[in-house]
Amino acid sequence: MTPRLLPLIATPRHGSRSRMTCRYRCNDACDAPVPNTSSNPAMRDLVEGALARRSVLKGGALGAGALVGAFATSATTPAAAAPATSATTAAAARRTGDVGRAAFSPVGPNRADAVTNAPGFTHNVVIRWGDPVEAGAPRFDVHAQTPEAQAQQFGYNNDYVGVLPLGARTALLVTNHEYTDENLMFPTGEYDDATTKKIAMAAHGMAVVTIERGRAHGSWIRSDHRRARHNRRITVHTEFELHGPAAGHDLLRTAADPTGTRAHGTFGNCAGGTTPWGTVLSGEENFNGYFDASGAVDPANATSFKRYGLATSAVTNRGWSTVDERFDLAKHPHEAYRFGWVVEIDPYEPDSTPVKQTMLGRFKHEGANVTISDSGHAVAYMGDDERGDYLYKFVSADRFRTGDTRSARAHNKTLLTRGTLYVAKFAGDGSGDGEFDGAGTWVALTSDTTSHVPGMSVAEVLINTRLAADTVGPTKMDRPEDVEPNPVNGKIYAALTNNSDRGVKYPTDETNPLASSMVRAELGAPLTSKSGNRNGYVLELTELGNDHTATQFTWDLFLVCGDPEAPETYFAGYDKSKVSPISCPDNVAFDGVGNLWISTDGNVLGSNDGLFRVPVAGPERGSVEQFLTVPFGAETCGPLITDDQRSVFIAVQHPGETDGATFETPSSTWPHTDGFPRPSVVVSYRR
Ligand code: FEO
Ligand code: CA
Ligand code: CA
Repeated sequence: MTPRLLPLIATPRHGSRSRMTCRYRCNDACDAPVPNTSSNPAMRDLVEGALARRSVLKGGALGAGALVGAFATSATTPAAAAPATSATTAAAARRTGDVGRAAFSPVGPNRADAVTNAPGFTHNVVIRWGDPVEAGAPRFDVHAQTPEAQAQQFGYNNDYVGVLPLGARTALLVTNHEYTDENLMFPTGEYDDATTKKIAMAAHGMAVVTIERGRAHGSWIRSDHRRARHNRRITVHTEFELHGPAAGHDLLRTAADPTGTRAHGTFGNCAGGTTPWGTVLSGEENFNGYFDASGAVDPANATSFKRYGLATSAVTNRGWSTVDERFDLAKHPHEAYRFGWVVEIDPYEPDSTPVKQTMLGRFKHEGANVTISDSGHAVAYMGDDERGDYLYKFVSADRFRTGDTRSARAHNKTLLTRGTLYVAKFAGDGSGDGEFDGAGTWVALTSDTTSHVPGMSVAEVLINTRLAADTVGPTKMDRPEDVEPNPVNGKIYAALTNNSDRGVKYPTDETNPLASSMVRAELGAPLTSKSGNRNGYVLELTELGNDHTATQFTWDLFLVCGDPEAPETYFAGYDKSKVSPISCPDNVAFDGVGNLWISTDGNVLGSNDGLFRVPVAGPERGSVEQFLTVPFGAETCGPLITDDQRSVFIAVQHPGETDGATFETPSSTWPHTDGFPRPSVVVSYRR
């Protein structure tokens, strides 16, 4: 093969722990994207909500009954009814495979190139980058890849994990493939530049993979792809329909689609959510890093492009414009408006056209988690993952229909097209009470029919949501990542992962209080102070009257993350001598007793990232325990606890993503099936 024409990705610095991809997808501590100067629980929600308190869902829609049939054992009901605590004193409870109730010795900080489980637990790899997904997928050969092969194989850098029931022992695993690490994917000199880019494009997007129970209780393996009719890859080239009020707007019209109602592909897919009607939502996050501008860009777009960090000159990003002209904003400026949405796919209908839901607004969507309010409205909670950006929620105009009928499901699939989009404004109640807490308001930006932002139409608010939100003065947050309602206590938990600029560009406030944090340069090194919020927070939010449609709420910082030895840390008042260090919360999930599970990305305490369990109620509230760590250089993504409480799914994203690492000289070879790392989905369970 001919040598590549361009050097592979540059290696910008990322604070004390530089990462080769900062330029493209890291939202903190690098020079790129412009910060704002301006389980699957949803499915379990359906089951447990019906059990616990949401009578509207009793009897269930599709998914509820199916979920019980597929996943739930007799453990589900008692677990849902049990008090939320991890304190399990009985010997039987200690040995239980119920991951919400099991006692375990927390995993310590480490730098192992392995998934390290808590004692008594083990794991297996479910699927790796390159494994076959679609029926005709060729065998993975890293030396003979083609775009066509990759488009049928499991993509790179799995992030969100959804597991939806299929049969008695089978399920559909739905994952995002957020981005690529070309340095680690391609042997040096074996692929030309254009081929490298085309393979990388095919490695982005999403995957639907049929899985089945393994021999060990709690384990899962991938089913034979040749007989898995739901299996599907979605890539940069897959056709999408645009739904909701912005569809057809002038800004969404391009040469390829003069109607403004279709778009090609999805990328930058970070977290997501599984809806109570059995579809999967996925957030298009760092979409800006995929566009270049070979010349001047129509100045009509300048304000928007600046706010979204989109290029206005030169080929500076992934260079996809050199193989696909639509990524050149000088030629096709409107193409950028077709990304930054929440997409919805129906894994049960493999031939269905996936959708971009414009009513949920356009920003760097981390994900979207839907619950059903007591009044039957679908409510989606969302974060815009940028330094200084905002928390959002959407409340549907129409009500969820129960019943496992085709018409009910068809109706529910329209719920995200009509309703109201809100942005959050926080107010502290002062430091005298010793807590970071207060009240807040959801400020309406637009409904599907009426804009509340003067000078902007409904569609304009939805397309330039950041600009619209800026006008109403929301609270600038420290990178809101996953925002998810707890199906047991009804409160909402948001991961605010970090913000190196807090206290510098952004003044502190009670919701974002840290201007400096204690970090460790490496494992075992002393704690030293660094400016900004480096370890992140977990925010707990309670809607007025526990009504998800309310426009008022109260809030508190449930966790101020970091090393418990650091004075600024706070673990909901729990004894700090008994908790695990935790840094940079990213994704969240819940188990059957309502414990919060937190996965991390970007540990600045010298350890690999990990997955943590923490009760949110009872005497153990705030007792953070590390359940596992992921391999060297990796991020822990997509935690999901199955409804029988036996299996913990995680996505191990970007193993070996460290400074200077290449295909030939990797810093990780996990999962150790090859001489190079392969991002993979893992399931953890009682040994
Ligand atoms: Fe892809 Fe917000 O992390
Ligand atoms: Ca306070
Ligand atoms: Ca994330």
